[in-house]
Amino acid sequence: TFVAIVPAGGAGTRLWPLSRRSHPKFLIDMTGVGRTLIQATSDRLEGLADDLIVVTGKDHAKAVAEQLDLSEDALVIEPSPRGTMPAIGLVAAIVEKRYGPDAVVGSFAADHLISDTGAFQQAVRTAIDSAKTGKVVTIGITPTSPDTGFGYIHVGEETTVKGAYAVAEFMEKPDLPRAVEYVESGTFLWNAGMFVSRVGVLLDSLAQFKPELAAGLRAIAAEWDGPGRAEALTGWDDLEDSVIDRAIAEPLAEIGGVTTVPVSMGWSDIGGYASLSEHLDNSAEQVSSGGSAQPVVLSGSDGAVVYSHDRPIVIHGIPEAVVVDTGDVLLVTTKEQSAGLGGVVASLGDDL
Ligand code: GDD
Ligand code: MG
Repeated sequence: TFVAIVPAGGAGTRLWPLSRRSHPKFLIDMTGVGRTLIQATSDRLEGLADDLIVVTGKDHAKAVAEQLDLSEDALVIEPSPRGTMPAIGLVAAIVEKRYGPDAVVGSFAADHLISDTGAFQQAVRTAIDSAKTGKVVTIGITPTSPDTGFGYIHVGEETTVKGAYAVAEFMEKPDLPRAVEYVESGTFLWNAGMFVSRVGVLLDSLAQFKPELAAGLRAIAAEWDGPGRAEALTGWDDLEDSVIDRAIAEPLAEIGGVTTVPVSMGWSDIGGYASLSEHLDNSAEQVSSGGSAQPVVLSGSDGAVVYSHDRPIVIHGIPEAVVVDTGDVLLVTTKEQSAGLGGVVASLGDDL
């Protein structure tokens, strides 16, 4: 049995105002392909996963269930966001109860783009084989810059499973000098944010490093009889906030429990407008922010990223412009400047 876990929570500020607290990027069709990011995540797992369970907060549960047409027991609603470890761990504990400790689980972020589904599925198949040898398996991407927003994987020797490599070290979000060193060494990969393992191995590893958290999650799962109403999760508020990368991947790699499957699959976590624009064939004309998208006219504005809403947009002589009209908000910046958007958005307060 292979069960896919899709954690969907939080909304960053780097793609504001497309991505907002009320409609985070996983609920949006970012590239104009007719599927939202979470729908595309579910699509690419079809034929691979026997079961798919989404874990999300109260605010987005309804939208997620509608977009994916989920049955009630395929949705786990967390009472409050505590980071990826409690979210993924809770579903893992429920899977362990339903299918036993040998079931293989894979967690897949809800908000990534992957252009080569075939390569993705092949990598996950290899990861499942490696997971069956008792490892926690990551998916590794060749880094293209010393981005400090990623986890870094130090790749070692190939294992007995072809295509899966030992991981000598896992470092979540290093500082810049260290990231530069890793990328220059040529022996590190970016962590694509996916973890595949036997569910018993995942929870037993957590029990080793964070015994209270593992016990708390298993206790909640024991009482949880689904559908996953938030109110039913007694004990949730006592759990420690944490992310799976630091709670499991970092310490487990130190004792040889992690492997990685390197893959080239056109992966992006769409960290901002510059990265989004690389995934748009024709950014101006293809993409709309909903409503009745209107025509976009670009003249002398190569490389612009434009989302129209209910009126036409004309950009004249501003290369690399970023213009996003959501109807209630209009953002005008450049790709380069958009990297610093977070500070501006924070100063706007909660309403926007
Ligand atoms: N349900 C739930 N609850 N989901 C959450 C929560 C939470 O509290 N926090 C995050 N998520 C979801 C996000 O929506 C996303 O789908 C996934 O879990 C990953 O969380 P991010 O917050 O986006 O993680 P990150 O981007 O900082 O870092 C991770 O991804 C990188 C690749 O994009 C790490 O795994 C890094 O090591 C990795 O390189
Ligand atoms: Mg992310």
